[in-house]
Amino acid sequence: MTATLIDGKAFAAKVREQVAGHVTRLKEDHGITPGLAVVLVGEDPASQVYVRSKGKQTVEAGMNSYEHKMDADTSEADLLAVIDQLNNDPAVHGILVQLPLPGHLNEDLIINSIAPEKDVDGFHISNVGLLGTGQKSMVPCTPLGCLMMLRDYHGSISGMNAVVIGRSNIVGKPMAQLLLNDSATVTIAHSRTKDLPGVVKQADIVVAAVGRPEMVPGDWIKEGATVIDVGINRIERDGKNKLVGDVDFESASKVAGAITPVPGGVGPMTIACLLANTVTACCRANG
Ligand code: GUN
Repeated sequence: MTATLIDGKAFAAKVREQVAGHVTRLKEDHGITPGLAVVLVGEDPASQVYVRSKGKQTVEAGMNSYEHKMDADTSEADLLAVIDQLNNDPAVHGILVQLPLPGHLNEDLIINSIAPEKDVDGFHISNVGLLGTGQKSMVPCTPLGCLMMLRDYHGSISGMNAVVIGRSNIVGKPMAQLLLNDSATVTIAHSRTKDLPGVVKQADIVVAAVGRPEMVPGDWIKEGATVIDVGINRIERDGKNKLVGDVDFESASKVAGAITPVPGGVGPMTIACLLANTVTACCRANG
C-alpha cells in the first residue's frame, strides 16, 4: 500500500485565503483591522524564525502585526507589564508569547496573565477548561490544524480509534481533547507507555507529537491508518541538514492509508490556524 499524501501546505494556503477574505470584510464592512501581537523573550534561533514567519503571514493576510522583542534577562515584572498593556490595547485582538521562555520566567504565570479572549494560543487555563468541557474556547493552533486535516480527509472521525503519542500541553493533551470532542476513542501514549508498538497498532488515527526523529516505524502502524506527524526535527544525514518528523516516513507511507509529510504537513497549518484564531478573537471582541 502507498499512502495518500495529506498536503498541509496546500490546505494552509486555502485557510490563509479564507482568513484574508474575512479580514477584507471586517475592514470594508466594519472598519476593523484584526491585530496580532507576538512577544519574543531572548534569542532562541528557532523561535526567531517562527516569530518572523508569523509576522510576515499576519501582514500578508491583511492584519496588523505587533512584535515585542525583549532581552533574555527580562524580569517577570517587565514582561507582565507588556502583557498588561497588550491586554488593554483595543487594536490588539490576539496575543502570543513565544515559548519556551527563559528558565527564570514562570511560564504558567505568564500565560495565565494573558486576557483569555486574546489568548490565540489557547494555553490559558480558562481556555484549557473550556475546551475540556466542550465549550467555546480558543483552541491551540497545532492540534486545531491536525483536526482540520483529519475532518477534511475523513469527513467524520466519530468512533475511530485514535492514539496520540505525546502528552505536552501545547499539542498532545489538547489534541486528545479535540479528538474526544469529535467522538473518537482516544488513547494518550507517552514515554512510560507499556508496549507502545502494540498500542499504536490499534489506531485508525495516529498523531505523533514527541519530538524524536523518526521514532515511529512503519511496522507499528496498522494497515490503512491515517498518520499525522507533528514532529519537526533537524538531523544530519549523508552530510546534509534535513528536516524529519517523529514518524519514519519511508516505511510508514508503505503501510498507512494517508500520511502528512515533513515538511509540508502539519507545520504550515499551525500559523494558518493562528491567523484564523486572531480573526475569531477579533470577531468575538466586536460582537
Ligand atoms: N513554541 C512552539 N510552539 C508554540 C506555539 O504553538 N505557541 C507558542 N506561543 N510557542 C510555541
